[in-house]
Amino acid sequence: MLSGQLLGGFPLIRPILFYPDKRLRNPGKEVEEFDAELRELIEDMAETMYAAPGVGLAAPQLGISKRLFIVDVATGEDEPSDLRVFINPEIIEAEGDTTFNEGCLSFPGIREDIDRAERIKVRAADPDGKPFELEADGLLAIAIQHENDHLDGKLMIDHLSVLRRRLVHRAMTKRAAVDAAQ
Ligand code: NI
Repeated sequence: MLSGQLLGGFPLIRPILFYPDKRLRNPGKEVEEFDAELRELIEDMAETMYAAPGVGLAAPQLGISKRLFIVDVATGEDEPSDLRVFINPEIIEAEGDTTFNEGCLSFPGIREDIDRAERIKVRAADPDGKPFELEADGLLAIAIQHENDHLDGKLMIDHLSVLRRRLVHRAMTKRAAVDAAQ
């Protein structure tokens, strides 16, 4: 990745926070500086997401309270990567309904059916601070809505029925206890 090389650094894999880590609930703050530090963070996020592997990652999942997420839904083996960066995003239009069996890097091993809008329009800034708009459907629209939730401290578990929420909470809490004991 070019700008990382220009900085003389290499992108790092950073630790991802797991539910029920309370920092996942901190809403992100607007990004104001589009500088080398931001580009470095984006490169680290991409490295971390691809290593996991996952199709999306939001800054709050690394304990960084910024309104920034990345997605790459090109998951096919022969598909070229399609990394997209969304800074200070806003979903400005949403229509239709769809349900998809979602996962989240902050909920390892959990997959749940979640209802989302089928088509969205998002407005955001790119890493240079340049605004853009994008219309999306399919997996890209789902991933954008999922990651955008993270910027408000909202998690996949919040979309579930009370019963499913309790089951997922219990599984993740048990996992955290096992991790802490190791
Ligand atoms: Ni997630």
